[in-house]
Amino acid sequence: MNPTLRKPLIAGNWKMYKTVAEAVQTAKDLVQCTAGVDVDIMIAPPFTALAPVAEVVRGTSVALGGQNLFSKNDGAYTGEISPVMLADIGCRYVIIGHSERRQFFGDTDASVNAKIRAALNHRLIPVFCVGETDAQREAGETFSVLDKQVSKGLEGFSSEMLSNVIVIAYEPVWAIGTGKTATSDQIQEVHTFLRSLAEKRFDNLLAKTVKILYGGSVKPENVSEIMKLPDVDGALVGGASLSAEVFSKIIRFHH
Ligand code: PGA
Repeated sequence: MNPTLRKPLIAGNWKMYKTVAEAVQTAKDLVQCTAGVDVDIMIAPPFTALAPVAEVVRGTSVALGGQNLFSKNDGAYTGEISPVMLADIGCRYVIIGHSERRQFFGDTDASVNAKIRAALNHRLIPVFCVGETDAQREAGETFSVLDKQVSKGLEGFSSEMLSNVIVIAYEPVWAIGTGKTATSDQIQEVHTFLRSLAEKRFDNLLAKTVKILYGGSVKPENVSEIMKLPDVDGALVGGASLSAEVFSKIIRFHH
């Protein structure tokens, strides 16, 4: 982590968990346990809970994020949520291209690219997820897979459009929800690769300023070690973000 350039961001992805009442309670507890912490915090509740949770976190240091969006502003797209709607409700962030979206809901590098563009057009910070599967790592394809995801996902953008805006989340698919965390060496190796890729495809400014989060079975027990790695700027947390008590321990990683 390099706090002079990049303030740490700890993001919670609640996935398809929590009723409105549960989400509101967790958000209230989280606001309470994280008051005064000098870390950027984001939670992404399910869409049904966004509006009530927005009320809870308004004016606090907890920012709100969507878990996905559709790239059009409005129209006959049954079941979809637009960037206009997310911005309107008070979202600052939106998770884009999560591996579960790619795996189960047909997100592709091309649709991810369109979603990132839509987010940026509405001043939403995209948390752009990339990561290799177990089989791809076993086959020695980790770097080529990541190169393709990043290059296609960010195709057509300039460094000016992305610098100080986009967040990249490296989430090895085999480490998500499995309890298997990547080793420090594996994480640092990929984060260094992603930062140099930002330099190669864009420029030094983007490489220096882009926050790169790690995600995949992050918990209070392993967060400090992960956050010590020089190219890790934060974490995207699934399971361990569902409890305010546990998540706030992750947010207070340097204590
Ligand atoms: P996990 O999920 O922390 O439960 O592994 C991470 C994610 O999917 O963002």
